[in-house]
Amino acid sequence: MTNPTVQRAFAPDLLAGQVALITGGGTGIGRGISLALARHGADIALVSRKLANMEPTAEAIRGLGRSVLALEADVRDREAIDRAVGRALEELGRIDHLINNAAGNFLAPASELSENGWRAVVDIVLNGTFNVSQAIYPVLRDGGGGSIVNITTRYVATGAPFMAHSGAAKAGVLNLTRSLAVEWGGDGIRVNAVAPGLVADTEGARRLVETIDLVEDYRLQVPLGRLATADEVADAVLFLCSPAAAYITGVELAVDGGAALGGHFKAAAEKIKAFYEESKRSRAH
Ligand code: COA
Repeated sequence: MTNPTVQRAFAPDLLAGQVALITGGGTGIGRGISLALARHGADIALVSRKLANMEPTAEAIRGLGRSVLALEADVRDREAIDRAVGRALEELGRIDHLINNAAGNFLAPASELSENGWRAVVDIVLNGTFNVSQAIYPVLRDGGGGSIVNITTRYVATGAPFMAHSGAAKAGVLNLTRSLAVEWGGDGIRVNAVAPGLVADTEGARRLVETIDLVEDYRLQVPLGRLATADEVADAVLFLCSPAAAYITGVELAVDGGAALGGHFKAAAEKIKAFYEESKRSRAH
C-alpha cells in the first residue's frame, strides 16, 4: 500500500530523466523500491535470477509510463552482471542509481550450517553487492556521479539467532558502504545504506511470520509499535537517491520504528509504568 502522505512529500518528477538499476527489484522490498523510484520519474533496470520474478513488476512500471528492462543475472556471476549493466546502459542510455537489494537468507543454527549454506548467503549478499557496485562504478563515474544504496538489516547492530550467515554478510555490506563512500566520494558517487526492521507486507516476511508467529514478540520491541511496510523502506531509498540527500554519504538509515534502540525497556514498559504508578500512590499516602 502506498502511503499518501509520503506521495505528497516527494515531487513526482524527483528523479525524472534518471535511471536506477535495482537488484532483486521484482519482489518484496525490491519491488517497493522499483515502483517508488518509477513513480518519481526514474526508468528502471531490474536484475534478478528469475525472469518470472520480475515480470509483474516490469508490467506495473510500464503502467506508470516509465521504461523498464528485466535482466536475468545472478549477482554472484560477475560476467553476467557486466552484461546486465552493459545492456542497461545501452538501452536506457545512462545509470544514475544502484540499489543493492538482492539477498538470500534462511533460518539455520550456526552450529549446523553447512559450508555451502554459509557460502551461498555470503556470496549473494556481500560478494554480490561488491560485484554489482564494482561493475557499475565506471558508469556512475563517467556519468558525472550518482548514488548507491545498499539494503542492510536491523540485526547488523544486534546479531540475531539463526541468522549468523546473513548478519555477518550484511555487516560486511555496511562496512563496504562506508569504504566505498570514502573511496568514491571524489567521483561524485554517494554510497549509503538502509536498514529495515521486519517488514509486514512482503511474501518473504509473511512466510516467516506465518511459520513462526513472531509478530507480537517483535512488535513489543518496536517503539512505534508496528512492523514496517515495503513502501516505507522504499521511501527512505528514494530520499537517499534524491538531491535532498546530496550531502549525505556513508550513512546507514534505520527504517525500523526505533527497534535498533533495543526493545528491552519497551517490552517492560507496562511493568515499569505499573511500578511507577504504585510508587506514586504510596508517596501520596
Ligand atoms: N536450511 C539449511 N540450509 C539451507 C537452507 C535451509 N533452509 N536453504 C539452503 N540451504 C543450503 C543448502 O542446503 C545448500 O547447502 P548444501 O549444499 O550443503 O546442502 C546451500 O544452502 C545452497 O543452497 P541452494 O538452494 O543450492 O543455493 P542457491 O544458491 O540456489 O540459493 C538461497 C541460496 C539462500 C537464495 C536459497 O536458500 C533460497 O532460495 N532462499 C529463499 C529465498 C530468499 O532467500 N529470498 C531472499 C530473502 S532475504
